[in-house]
Amino acid sequence: MTGETIGHYRILEKVGEGGMGVVYKAEDTRLRRLVALKFLSARTAPDAQAEARFLREAQAGGGLDHPNVCRVHGLEEHEGRTFIVMAFVEGESLARRIRSGLKLGEALDIAIQIGEGLKAAHERGILHRDVKPANILVSAEGTAKLTDFGIAFVRDRSRLTLPGTVMGTLTYMAPEQLRAEDADPRTDIWALGVVLYEMCAGRLPFDRADAVKLTKAILEEDPLKPSAIHPMLTQEFDEIVEKALAKAREDRYQHLDGLVADLRSLRRRLTPGQEAFACSVPEIGRDAPSEAASAATRARSWIGRLFGRRPDGPPRPDVTSSQARTPERPSRTDQAR
Ligand SMILES: Nc1ncnc2c1ncn2[C@@H]1O[C@H](COP(=O)(O)OP(=O)(O)OP(=O)(O)O)[C@@H](O)[C@H]1O
Ligand SMILES: [Mg+2]
Repeated sequence: MTGETIGHYRILEKVGEGGMGVVYKAEDTRLRRLVALKFLSARTAPDAQAEARFLREAQAGGGLDHPNVCRVHGLEEHEGRTFIVMAFVEGESLARRIRSGLKLGEALDIAIQIGEGLKAAHERGILHRDVKPANILVSAEGTAKLTDFGIAFVRDRSRLTLPGTVMGTLTYMAPEQLRAEDADPRTDIWALGVVLYEMCAGRLPFDRADAVKLTKAILEEDPLKPSAIHPMLTQEFDEIVEKALAKAREDRYQHLDGLVADLRSLRRRLTPGQEAFACSVPEIGRDAPSEAASAATRARSWIGRLFGRRPDGPPRPDVTSSQARTPERPSRTDQAR
């Protein structure tokens, strides 16, 4: 598609591909600005009802305009293909940044920024529902932006309506999402807790190759205390993570205000040594799919059973292959065990 013009968008290059479709960098020739166009694959394209809800959520209150949120301009169609038009964000995904190495100070700065972006959304009644490193873009200057706001429901709908498919990864899902209960702001707080843990401890809080075991761990098991992984992480950090990852929503941070305030307070008091601590280390030549990605593949039949369907649907090569290309699990897992 590179070089093509679609309506008033000139496609410049393909920037990536995820579970829901392909993302291109493009120029809006009418408004003379760079945009990212996310073409949804036929399977994930929303129906009219989902489309209306998407527009309502993504553009609630005249659009969520916040420095830590990637602005969504709209939803358009070209020759029967639906695409999302959003601001183009320079930078790389947090999934990649975690693999290329993060310092504790940077990790907390990213968590605080994402917390601020989510807080602004929650104040307007918008949930993200799919907070994960692949949906966080970090600029060279360290500004973090949350993308894919409000589109997770498209995925949720598809997951419930397409036979035998599982979309995305279970890794960042809160217990209530696994129980197919409605999400609320605390569901996003849980996911941010998982991202925070992953960035700072250098491994996932719940990491099992087997989808059933992964689900059981999320529902029932306590993750290893971060301070037991890196002594540089204090008891205060343990307490923040524990509160963000409380299984019962009532025990969790109830609002992002509390989590962001605690993170800011912790960040202010980091010593230069703690700030520069390399909490996630660069990964060398790791191309294999992550355990979690493999788990998502295996989860296909299991989710089918969970939702009372036969696991006989078509495989989703777009989901599994993209996850295999962008493994999100950092490298210290084995070392930390
Ligand atoms: N607004 C944007 N500006 C610049 N690059 C973007 C933008 N949105 C997405 N990208 C890039 O495109 C890649 C693919 O994004 P996409 O959202 O399709 O995949 P994903 O987040 O890995 O999976 P999912 O479908 O679950 O969201 C991202 O890794 C990111 O690098
Ligand atoms: Mg995404």
